[in-house]
Amino acid sequence: MIPTLVFYSQFDSFEQWQALLAPLLPGIRICQEQDVEDPESVLYALAWKPPQGFFARYRNLQLLINLGAGVDSLVGRDDLPAIPITRLSDPNMGRMMASYVLFAVLRYARDIPAFEQAQRQRRWHYLHPRLPQSVRVGVLGLGELGAYAAAELVRQGFAVSGWSRSAKQLEGVRCYSGLDCLDSFIADSEILVVMLPLTSETRGLLDARRLALLPPGSCFINVSRGAVVDQQALTEALGSGRIAEATLDVFDREPLPPEDPLWGMTNVLITPHLASVAIPESAARQIADNILRLQRGEAVLHQVDPARGY
Ligand code: NAP
Ligand code: GLV
Repeated sequence: MIPTLVFYSQFDSFEQWQALLAPLLPGIRICQEQDVEDPESVLYALAWKPPQGFFARYRNLQLLINLGAGVDSLVGRDDLPAIPITRLSDPNMGRMMASYVLFAVLRYARDIPAFEQAQRQRRWHYLHPRLPQSVRVGVLGLGELGAYAAAELVRQGFAVSGWSRSAKQLEGVRCYSGLDCLDSFIADSEILVVMLPLTSETRGLLDARRLALLPPGSCFINVSRGAVVDQQALTEALGSGRIAEATLDVFDREPLPPEDPLWGMTNVLITPHLASVAIPESAARQIADNILRLQRGEAVLHQVDPARGY
């Protein structure tokens, strides 16, 4: 029986991943679901958002490698045996995410939406630039991606605060932890960047009450998961102008349905869930290394804690 790695993703190129992984994993067959010859031979899965029931026939699965950072589509599933789940932990993914966050924050800090609007009206609209240190940016979630983005914002000179579950020390970032200080954290953020994983604790965390704590005229950036935020409450706050602007990469339902009012809002920038993506050139090596570690009987790296949800 040839050990098999089954691949599943609707967003990533199987051929590209296979070409990079095959030389690193000699002796392992890499294929997609429809090409699995013997489900019993499938020991490893490399998957992004596989449908419910996907794993049911792979009874010998030993390792599930999430083809991304967030594992909310994997933890707590009933078609999955109790095996290690790993995530991608790739500095290039962190850099890609940080560039998105930096773009969105700079766009607001430099009043670019106002100039975009003025240009459409052929209007010379002078707004004196603010110094970055006077702009208070709050980053919710200081994990691999959040900490990277926070460091880039610090490098740009912004007044950066960060919030996480456990206490942290990050250079240049005022760090807060725990629910007790969340309300005051939100109330102090002129630009709020959501970089939390979706877990049972964070689902709906930014509800109507908490969104109402944002300072009037604040800006909101979500690159985590749509369900962390009450999307209807966010839409209402944006409609009333209480939240002035939003950059949204993630939504309750993806693709965002054509009839969703967010599409028509001039103060909302929508991107289709691509703030950061899995990068085969840099992540293939860590995926292969983890499989080889498992084969040698060593603990795998970048394992998530299903009980914690991330
Ligand atoms: P991570 O390394 O798992 O870090 C998660 C951070 O959130 C940690 O700082 C953690 O606190 C904090 N956190 C978790 N639960 C919390 C809670 N209940 N209260 C307060 N803080 C909590 O995650 P990451 O790699 O930075 O990625 C974050 C998320 O970004 C992913 O889970 C995914 O959903 C999303 N993402 C989106 C895209 C995109 O393209 N839009 C791409 C990649 C990832 P501790 O540090 O104390 O544990
Ligand atoms: C993308 O959303 C990821 O979690 O990697």
